[in-house]
Parts: sequence; C-alpha cells; structure tokens
Amino acid sequence: MPYPDDRQEFLDNIERQSLALGDDAAAFAKSLDVMVELDKYDYSYLWTWMGVPIIQLPADIMATQEVIWATKPDVIIETGVARGGSVLFMASLLEVIGKGKVIGVDIDIRAHNRDSIENHPMSKRVTLIEGGSVDEGTLARVRAEIPEGARVMVVLDSDHSRDHVLAECRAYGPMVSPGCYMVVADTVVGHMDKDIAPTKRSHQWFKGNEPLSALNDYLAETDRFEVDKVLNGKLVLSSSPGGISGAGRWKND
Ligand SMILES: C[S@@+](CC[C@H](N)C(=O)[O-])C[C@H]1O[C@@H](n2cnc3c(N)ncnc32)[C@H](O)[C@@H]1O
Repeated sequence: MPYPDDRQEFLDNIERQSLALGDDAAAFAKSLDVMVELDKYDYSYLWTWMGVPIIQLPADIMATQEVIWATKPDVIIETGVARGGSVLFMASLLEVIGKGKVIGVDIDIRAHNRDSIENHPMSKRVTLIEGGSVDEGTLARVRAEIPEGARVMVVLDSDHSRDHVLAECRAYGPMVSPGCYMVVADTVVGHMDKDIAPTKRSHQWFKGNEPLSALNDYLAETDRFEVDKVLNGKLVLSSSPGGISGAGRWKND
C-alpha cells in the first residue's frame, strides 16, 4: 500500500514546533548554557564551508540556507567577511540556484583570506569590497554593484557594537527588497549576562552594547521589517536567535 503524501503535514509540523520552541524560555536557557560550555572549545570557529572557515554555528548556516532558497535573491550583501566561509557558502547556494552574487564588505581583507576566496571555485559569484561598512565611500561602491531591479538580501556580521550595528541597519536596511531578509548576526550576546558573555573574541560585547539592542532599536523606528517567528523560534544553539531573519518581510509585501 502506498504511503500517503505527507509533505505538507511535515512542513506544518516544522512550523508548529518551531513556534512552540520559540516560546519555550526554559529550552532557550538550556541552549544558552550549552553554548557557554561549548565556547570553551571555540565552537563557532570549528566549521568550514567547502574548505574555508565559516565563523557560524550550524543552525545559523541552515537557517540562512532556508532563507536564501525560499527567497532566491539576486544580490546578497554581507558585512564582515573574515576568512570567507560565509560569503562562499552563500555564493555556493546562488550557484546552485543559477544566478546572483554575494558582495562581501570588510574593513580588513587580509591577503591570505583574499587568496582563499579569490582562488575558490565559488569566487565567480563573490565581489569583495574593502572598507568600513558604513563609510559613505563603501556604501557608494556597494550600491554601484547592485543591478537595477535586483532582489537584495543583507547579512550584518561585522563590528558587533550597538552603534555600529544600528548604523548598518539604517544604511543597509533600505537596500533589502520586499520579500527578502536581513540577518543580524550575534544577537545571542544580548541574552547573556556579563559573567557568561563569550570571551574568546577580538572584541568583547556585553548586553546593551551588542547586535540585539541595535536590532530592537531599529525595529522600533521602522515598519519595513518584521521578525520571522518560525525561523527564529527554532534558532537555539544559534549565535543569532531573533536575528537571523531579525527583520524580514516588508509589511506591505
Ligand atoms: C565575525 S567576523 C565575520 C565572520 C564571517 N561573516 C563568517 O561567517 O565567517 C567579523 C568581521 O568584521 C570585520 N569588521 C569589523 N569592523 C568592521 C567595519 N567597521 N566594517 C566592515 N567590516 C568590519 C572584521 O574585519 C571581521 O573580519
């Protein structure tokens, strides 16, 4: 006897359970405990994408993949390139989709990292721009790379101070197309008290001066975005709970 087609049921269950998980404060607290424990081992630095280090947790990579596949942007702008794994990851999805490019913006693109990116098979879908992400010159170069009518998605993962992330939201938020997403990375720090905030970083951020505070301020001043509750609900063991789609669809979409 053939199995019934339960694809929709399966997807409905994802939605139901993700929303329920998003409301489970106790599960989220346990997830934070696990992440604090795992940070002793540099857990977010242990992964590579197609051979290149990607400084993300697996759940965030999966959620970003879901967003890109669902919305199929033509241009993805990422601020904060580091070793390049994230721009190459998103470029590889665009390669499978068959269109588009990733614009990677970083204030300091080191020669060896540029080498890893530019000599990677996915580099054909990557454009690197070196400069401060909210500098007017950088923004002009980014805008010049966006073709007329392109569907644009944004990932903000550079300087995680509140003021900088808020400035990025204001600069890059208006570039996001209706129906596309903006990802604000490292919002988890906004859930961590000082005694458990991650220490193994080039800069240490604390509650109040981190991306979640910036995102909340930005969401209060714009009605362009709304948090995707399904995606964020399942973002436990994540650097970006409440932020990976942290904004998303224009309300009039
Ligand atoms: C967390 S890492 C990015 C990780 C990367 N997105 C990934 O997933 O592998 C942060 C990066 O932001 C860059 N950065 C810091 N301040 C910046 C600024 N004002 N403008 C642009 N990039 C900046 C740093 O040079 C660093 O490479």
